[in-house]
Amino acid sequence: MNISRMTLAILAIGFTVITAPHPAFTETAATAIEPLVLRKIMRELGKNMQHISDSIAREDWALITEIAPHIADHPKPPLTEKIRILAFVGSDAGKFRDYDEKTHQAGQELRRAAMQKDRTEVISAFATLQESCVTCHQSFRKSFQEHFYEQR
Ligand code: HEC
Repeated sequence: MNISRMTLAILAIGFTVITAPHPAFTETAATAIEPLVLRKIMRELGKNMQHISDSIAREDWALITEIAPHIADHPKPPLTEKIRILAFVGSDAGKFRDYDEKTHQAGQELRRAAMQKDRTEVISAFATLQESCVTCHQSFRKSFQEHFYEQR
């Protein structure tokens, strides 16, 4: 082995030692900090709500017509995560589903109002939609935070 190869080898070993995470840390990161797919879906919902709010200001009914279905028919978490969520919410599963259904309906209502270019109806449907988000958050967000993210 020539010198430069040896240097490379030493560097490579040193690098491995420095970058290899402590096993306990990886364990924690994998089990406690890995965010739910639900969170990503929620962020997307949040962005779409902002776009709609902007579009109301611009009276861009066409854009609202386009965005509203992304809220009404938002993606669902994968089955394994759904099972984790349902196991956690337990007897509140019905309530959780009802809240989701309210958001779905309010999203459809918003789309209808936007198609009719009815400003008053759009604003009212948007308020109902927002209400549906916040109602679920008030019941579930904190407990999700505690259950799925906080280290015990
Ligand atoms: C059926 C219940 C439910 C409904 C309805 C709901 N959410 Fe959520 N939302 C949650 C839960 C639970 C969390 C916490 C998820 C997490 O932290 O992993 C959350 C978190 C969020 C977050 C924070 C994400 C982050 O980065 O921590 C945003 C933004 C959000 N929701 C937006 C919305 C919007 C906008 C709507 C309505 C269009 C909505 N949500 C409707 C249950 C709901």
